Amino acid sequence: MKKSYSLFLVLMLLAGSESIAQKNNQLTVNQLVVVANHPGAVISKDIYGHFSEHLGTCIYGGIWVGLNSKIPNTYGIRNDVLFALRELKVPNLRWPGGCFADTYHWKDGIGPQSGRASIVNTYWGGVTEDNSFGTHEFMKLTELIGCEAYINGNVGSGTVREMAEWVEYLTSGSDSPMTRLRKENGREEPWKVRLFAVGNENWGCGGNMTAGFYGNIMRQFSTNLNNYSGNQLYRVACGPNGTDVQWTEELMKDPGTRAMFQGISLHYYSVVNGWESKGSATKFDEREWFETFRLNFEIDNIIRSHEAVMDRYDPGKTKGLIVDEWGNWFAVEPGTNPGFLYQQNTMRDAITAAIHLNIFNQHADRVKGANIAQIVNVLQSVILTKDDKMVLTPTYHVFRMFSVHQNARLLNIDLTCESYTKGEKEIPSVTASASVDNEGKVHISLANLNPGKEITVTCPIVGETYKKVSGELLTSPEMNSFNSFEKPDVVKPVGFTGYTLKGGILTVNMPSKSVVVLELVK
Ligand code: AHR
Repeated sequence: MKKSYSLFLVLMLLAGSESIAQKNNQLTVNQLVVVANHPGAVISKDIYGHFSEHLGTCIYGGIWVGLNSKIPNTYGIRNDVLFALRELKVPNLRWPGGCFADTYHWKDGIGPQSGRASIVNTYWGGVTEDNSFGTHEFMKLTELIGCEAYINGNVGSGTVREMAEWVEYLTSGSDSPMTRLRKENGREEPWKVRLFAVGNENWGCGGNMTAGFYGNIMRQFSTNLNNYSGNQLYRVACGPNGTDVQWTEELMKDPGTRAMFQGISLHYYSVVNGWESKGSATKFDEREWFETFRLNFEIDNIIRSHEAVMDRYDPGKTKGLIVDEWGNWFAVEPGTNPGFLYQQNTMRDAITAAIHLNIFNQHADRVKGANIAQIVNVLQSVILTKDDKMVLTPTYHVFRMFSVHQNARLLNIDLTCESYTKGEKEIPSVTASASVDNEGKVHISLANLNPGKEITVTCPIVGETYKKVSGELLTSPEMNSFNSFEKPDVVKPVGFTGYTLKGGILTVNMPSKSVVVLELVK
């Protein structure tokens, strides 16, 4: 079966490429037309964002080991993780949650560490949280990674004053009780904080609010979050749970409410077999492999449904959709704390990442940020740690390979590809997106979802001529291959040579279950 999965075809521009294909007498089953001379929206680098919650061993052990640890560290932050995150070009890091943010009182996490309040992390395992990692430690982490801070304020159990003071403590250069407190704690200059979320999942763990109630509360909180000393906040209102377009409607319809935020969040997880009997991260058959990707592709429909609402009230697309939690959510690894959400990461997760990032790229005009859940040791992580060992997951490699799209301009594509079917269900076998960067280099990212079949994709490149191609490939021996502490390099990118470029047509031979990123230079 052959299907066109793209929404648009720039017929005039494609006329040339069709004739090239016909001239070469090619019967193209899998074709990706790339229109190189009409770049579109900028793909915000923030689409490649990450998320770190006080959950399991994400912060404690995974990032923060403390100054006195035997694990090599910089200001208490483990060096191996730090270096790996620098390589990844992390644009922003969301913190401190998640549901933890709905219980977090920031003043517990400042001042001398020995004097900080211990609390119980009620959402995640009931463990004692000693608050040794707080505002200063997080801001140091972002400085060392070289990324922006994305702070999630507490609407669920916090006060307006508490949130307002946090913004003042972080960003004000004036003389005030908050800025004096910051200075007493060792930080003279204010930080810059742009991304600030006004609540998390307020339809759930953030207070079980209705959309209307949250809309009003958000207006009250947001009114009190000031832009100090040249700092400009990008306020992210708590958005819908998955498909709940009514929530989006409620926030968007009233101009007064709309004026109170710059972005709306969206959370969507792919949970194979449902929340009550989640599938395993490593032990799965082809049915679950397929089902994972079918669920992953749903994010496209979900984004479209919220975009439709947003477009009605904001046709100029001034408000961003920020998908600040996404990814595969599997059963925890056997023998681990169920409240810690620790899961392994396979080639399946790598393809999941490729599907999502390609879809976010395609929605670059509205999706202005996204944060995979979560950065280390939790859910679909890019890094796993165990004591002093660290491993980069297949998802890490996809983020690194796709980082070429950050702040590049989206190129129109038209993808026609064979379906991948299981029983009555079908999904595309290929996912793709393309962009051009400010040096004029074109990058095409593709994945072949089929675990048992090579796929050749013919890519007419329309409008510009390129002479040189290079590429990287991520694939694996098995569907469930993963990197362990004993064998950390089972799934690792290699140079890719399975392509030809002739007469403006790039032909790419993709191995089964693979992710490929190509670079085209004039
Ligand atoms: O990422 C794990 C949890 O999932 C977050 O804390 C919460 O916001 C979501 O429900």
